[in-house]
Amino acid sequence: MEIIKLHPEIGAEIRGVSMADVANDDNAYRAVRAAFEEHSVLLFRNQPTDDQVQVGYSAKFGPLETAKVASLGEGTPFSILTNIDKATGNLVPQGHKEELRAKANQLWHTDSSFRETPALASVLSARTIPGVGGETAFVSQRATWNRLPQSLRAKLANSYAWHSYAHSRGKIDPSLASQREQNAMPPACWRMRWRNPVNGRDALYIASHTYAIVGLSDKEALALIDELTAIATATGHSYEHPWRAGDVVMWDNRASMHRGRPWPLDEPRYMIRTTIAATDADGVAELRPPKMAA
Ligand code: OGA
Ligand code: MN
Repeated sequence: MEIIKLHPEIGAEIRGVSMADVANDDNAYRAVRAAFEEHSVLLFRNQPTDDQVQVGYSAKFGPLETAKVASLGEGTPFSILTNIDKATGNLVPQGHKEELRAKANQLWHTDSSFRETPALASVLSARTIPGVGGETAFVSQRATWNRLPQSLRAKLANSYAWHSYAHSRGKIDPSLASQREQNAMPPACWRMRWRNPVNGRDALYIASHTYAIVGLSDKEALALIDELTAIATATGHSYEHPWRAGDVVMWDNRASMHRGRPWPLDEPRYMIRTTIAATDADGVAELRPPKMAA
């Protein structure tokens, strides 16, 4: 297996081991798992666009999430991100729910921080890519953490933030998250530092979904989240992935943020994501607020 770095702070391409190898072979899994713990974003090129390989690969890392209520793929392991209308096969018009959802994905975030169990990792497979735009950008939240002043790190390590799907969707359109979605996905509260139990490295845990911090006023909390997001995503700190057919990118939701980039609405884009839920072995227990703080 060869590991080729994509950016000084985050990401590596894996060569010589395929996703099918990982699905079928424990030694291949262990090697790729170690690269995942180290590099936070892994790129596989020239993969077969095969749902079963994607599930087989993903399931090695832990329990799979099911796609969100009212999303394409609801109840299955496959989250579909696309501007192609399922019923008609046509491209969706501006203002369509899937177009607004793509816009929400263009805000810096980490996946599933609003869920009852946060996500360890996401595995995104490019099935149809536009001729221009539609990249996905990543930043290392370990690098962010290390850039913060020591006094702020000490404070954030014991701070707890609230995350909500309705909050990030509301930044795009106040009615984007329906009542049904809000009922199914109530807010969740997590420590703002996620320590990786394998290597002890700390990462800042925030997202577009973050709307409150225990002990701060809403105004103070939102200002701090904005400031931290700006530090995390400052020029020079992101790796922007230009998709090629056959690419699959996996990222560590504990240690990174990502955002989609816009593309022309008259070009189709179709991506399939599987998402792995985090377990105590991935450091979730430490993320839970003490009873009093929540
Ligand atoms: C995701 C996501 C951005 C993109 O799959 O979780 O945010 O570029 N995707 O599609
Ligand atoms: Mn995402």
